[in-house]
Amino acid sequence: MSGTAFPRLRMRRLRRSAALRDLVAETRLTPGNLIYPLFIEDSGPPRQPIESMPGVDRLSIEEAVSEASAAVGEGIRAVLLFGIPRAKDGRGSRADHPDGVIQRAVKALRSDVPDVVVITDVCLCEYTDHGHCGVVEDGEVVNDASLERLALQAVSHAEAGAHVVAPSDMMDGRVAAIRDALDAAGGAETPILSYAAKYASAFYGPFREAVDSTPAFGDRRSYQMDPRNGDEALREVELDLAEGADFVVVKPALPSLDVIRRVKDTFRVPTAAYQVSGEYAMIEAAGERGWIDVEAAHLEAVGAIRRVGADLIITYAARRLARALSKPGP
Ligand code: PBG
Repeated sequence: MSGTAFPRLRMRRLRRSAALRDLVAETRLTPGNLIYPLFIEDSGPPRQPIESMPGVDRLSIEEAVSEASAAVGEGIRAVLLFGIPRAKDGRGSRADHPDGVIQRAVKALRSDVPDVVVITDVCLCEYTDHGHCGVVEDGEVVNDASLERLALQAVSHAEAGAHVVAPSDMMDGRVAAIRDALDAAGGAETPILSYAAKYASAFYGPFREAVDSTPAFGDRRSYQMDPRNGDEALREVELDLAEGADFVVVKPALPSLDVIRRVKDTFRVPTAAYQVSGEYAMIEAAGERGWIDVEAAHLEAVGAIRRVGADLIITYAARRLARALSKPGP
């Protein structure tokens, strides 16, 4: 610290205009930092609003293509795809179907939006009738039998043309299983973005309405992490990196700011944070009541996630933020 103090030092001098504030801003948030999630439905209307996520719709493949193309026009580089299959069953059979909704959506995006990085969510919960992220036997989510299904799903996404696969299931050993399967199938160059530190969070509620994946019994606490633990998150990240993850996700974002910082400090790998559905919905709901300025609150929340160290932020507000960021600041 310099020894200078008031009245020679006046902190307000550098806050006097938007130009000065911009000049000395310590962090920059750009549309290139944002990853835009899309929900793609196999059957149904072109756009179906998700009640608990104002401004977010379930999309047909055609609408997903136009949404991704508009996002790219606003400076966003990547989309993250979630599928809502036409049928669900105990094993999540549609997850690795060559004609599944994600496989077709990936092909459409690759051909019609050549500049977008296509990332696919790899998890069974959108595809199983019980809503769990793995295979269920005798009322238990069984680890090792799930790995095979997840690996097949990842290979099927890569074969359809996904640039990056993103396993979000939290089974032990899935990154290694997926890496081995990709390598064996000629996908050695396909990166894995692993949801390494994923907490069993109350903030995923609206997402489960969006993809209809609320567990039919029990909860996800036997595989997702206990929110009381921070050291455990570092062990999860270390393990996933050792198994071959190329970059990692911490999730949810605002309730895990300490973890994002620790992951960056410890591993120095590209780190994404997921501003999840409930974080988004809180801001939107308060805005609808006139209690909060939605755009300013999204900018501040996502800006804080960036300041704490996230290189990438997965957010449903990506397009709105990209537009806001292209305007001169107040
Ligand atoms: C699992 C998955 C979930 C989310 C992303 N991937 C849900 C869950 O674990 O229950 C939540 C994302 C959000 O809330 O926005 N495939």
